Amino acid sequence: MRIMITGATSGIGYQLALAYARQGHQVIACGRNQAKLDQLITQNLNITSLCFDLTEYQDFPDLREPLDMLIFNAGDCEYIDDSLNFDAKMFERVININLISVAYGLEKWLKHINKSGRLVLVSSSAALLPLPRAEAYGTSKAGLTYLGRTLAVSLKEHEISVTTVHPGFVDTPLTQKNNFPMPMLINSKEAAIKITQGIEKGKSEINFPLVFVLLMKCFSFLPLSIWQRLASRMV
Ligand SMILES: NC(=O)c1ccc[n+]([C@@H]2O[C@H](COP(=O)([O-])OP(=O)(O)OC[C@H]3O[C@@H](n4cnc5c(N)ncnc54)[C@H](OP(=O)(O)O)[C@@H]3O)[C@@H](O)[C@H]2O)c1
Repeated sequence: MRIMITGATSGIGYQLALAYARQGHQVIACGRNQAKLDQLITQNLNITSLCFDLTEYQDFPDLREPLDMLIFNAGDCEYIDDSLNFDAKMFERVININLISVAYGLEKWLKHINKSGRLVLVSSSAALLPLPRAEAYGTSKAGLTYLGRTLAVSLKEHEISVTTVHPGFVDTPLTQKNNFPMPMLINSKEAAIKITQGIEKGKSEINFPLVFVLLMKCFSFLPLSIWQRLASRMV
């Protein structure tokens, strides 16, 4: 298979690139740091790279060959500490990389996915519940999950399957800056295994760690006022 992965220079994307390359697939690793991409390429001959910033519409490269799978994994997280003094520019940054960049990529590359191919969106379990301080991150991921679920319906007639991924906490540079407890934290290799296994099974949604996401889903069934009281104690 020919697989393109965004955010392949670090964390989950890095492990996904290595996992698929080791299985013998051709991997196009996207990132904005050439040195990190060069380091990744030296790991496996099946990996090639594209270096550009996903938030720059005009920088998206054309593809010369079709894809069997397109994985939108790149993302970033910034928290809102003072929602009264709302930081619109920070909100814009997070929405741009987590959501708008995916729209840019869809416009440019979706028509290059082969029939029977797959589109994968790496969202977050944060999409499932309104979490404190996650006004920007949670909004971007809730939007991404909605996008994945709607595309799953509309791309059916084009024989493109869609998988939306909801990870819990994964130990990567993105979470290493967190200063709060991260229950059921797993490493990025384990996360990549869960994702590749779920894709192999043709799942439309991949949720892990299962217990963590089940808990999140249970909380989401609570009356909103009860959840809001619980959430406000987390602040
Ligand atoms: N870690 C978790 O607990 C967790 C939980 C749920 C969901 N997720 C999601 O999983 C995905 C991967 O996250 P991760 O934890 O593996 O984070 P990570 O290690 O920080 O990796 C993020 C990747 O995105 C790339 N990226 C960020 N902004 C970019 C931009 N403007 N243009 C091009 N590439 C850009 C980064 O490239 P640079 O190296 O150039 O910065 C890096 O390769 C994200 O969408 C994240 O929201 C993570």
